[in-house]
Amino acid sequence: MLVDVSEVSTEAEVLDARLSMPVAVAPVAFQRLAHPDGEPATARAAEAAGTAMSLSTLATATPTEVAEAAPGGTRWMQLYCFRDRGVTRALLDEAVAAGYEAILLTVDAPFAGRRERDFRTGFEVPADVRTPAIEAAVGRTDLTVAEVFELVDPALGWDDLEQLASECELPVLVKGLVTSEDAALAVEHGAGGVVVSNHGGRQLDAASATIDALPEVVDAIEGRIPVLMDGGIRRGTDVAVALALGADAVLAGRACLWGLAVDGQAGVELALGMLRDELRLTLALLGCASPAELTRAHVRHRKPRS
Ligand SMILES: Cc1cc2nc3c(=O)[nH]c(=O)nc-3n(C[C@H](O)[C@H](O)[C@H](O)COP(=O)(O)O)c2cc1C
Repeated sequence: MLVDVSEVSTEAEVLDARLSMPVAVAPVAFQRLAHPDGEPATARAAEAAGTAMSLSTLATATPTEVAEAAPGGTRWMQLYCFRDRGVTRALLDEAVAAGYEAILLTVDAPFAGRRERDFRTGFEVPADVRTPAIEAAVGRTDLTVAEVFELVDPALGWDDLEQLASECELPVLVKGLVTSEDAALAVEHGAGGVVVSNHGGRQLDAASATIDALPEVVDAIEGRIPVLMDGGIRRGTDVAVALALGADAVLAGRACLWGLAVDGQAGVELALGMLRDELRLTLALLGCASPAELTRAHVRHRKPRS
């Protein structure tokens, strides 16, 4: 209290990019299901909001189309590693050529999770919602979602990460770990960062909440590589808690997807703008002039951690 917060900046440097806030868009598949403008609209919104967009491997627009939609924006590419490394390579090559600045290698989905709500509602991706980048890389246009998942390599190991990281000109972040042991292995095997994530609770049922897992990952990483976190980012206070516990930045998945569903690009801009405004207010009320001033002392645990 009684700290000058007349000037509060939410800006942050994340993966060598200067962003308007340490909040970027998480990779979310099949965005044309939410709105006909799909991923290009999300990319334009992220660019307008001054932050980065992560594009899913399972996107309904190609990495090149998304780059062309928001040429001045910061973009990161989420990667599933395919059994056929030629397919993986083709996706990577397109991402590099289209100016993506980091790869988020998702490691928590060797198989699709059992999403009971989808069974209850009978959810299926309509046949006319396509994944053009995968189709081009695989050379087939008749793949169902289940067939695409069958192409993902469930045997992927730490050595594969090491090889990918050494061959790829971009930093390769490991997305989908929640333990200090995996965090240490990620550093050891050349990861350019980690994303503490449980896939929004859509993979392993009863997985740790990422906000609970974050401190042990931060401690294991010891500042050697950036630590991002996702899961449950709905308000500026959620962002502030994650930053206080040591995250360099967070990703927002559903918050942006819901914005897209409501109003396309404008909806995503609104969601990102709300997160930024709420983060600015939270920082001010905590007596912090910037995200970097948040520390663990700003968070009080209800129960001591074991
Ligand atoms: C509909 C949906 C699709 C998703 N698709 C992907 C994906 O293709 N690749 C991926 O790595 N994560 C995917 N995720 C997980 C997100 O990247 C992120 O980890 C998660 O949504 C964060 O939680 P939040 O939605 O509470 O912000 C998806 C999440 C949702 C809700």
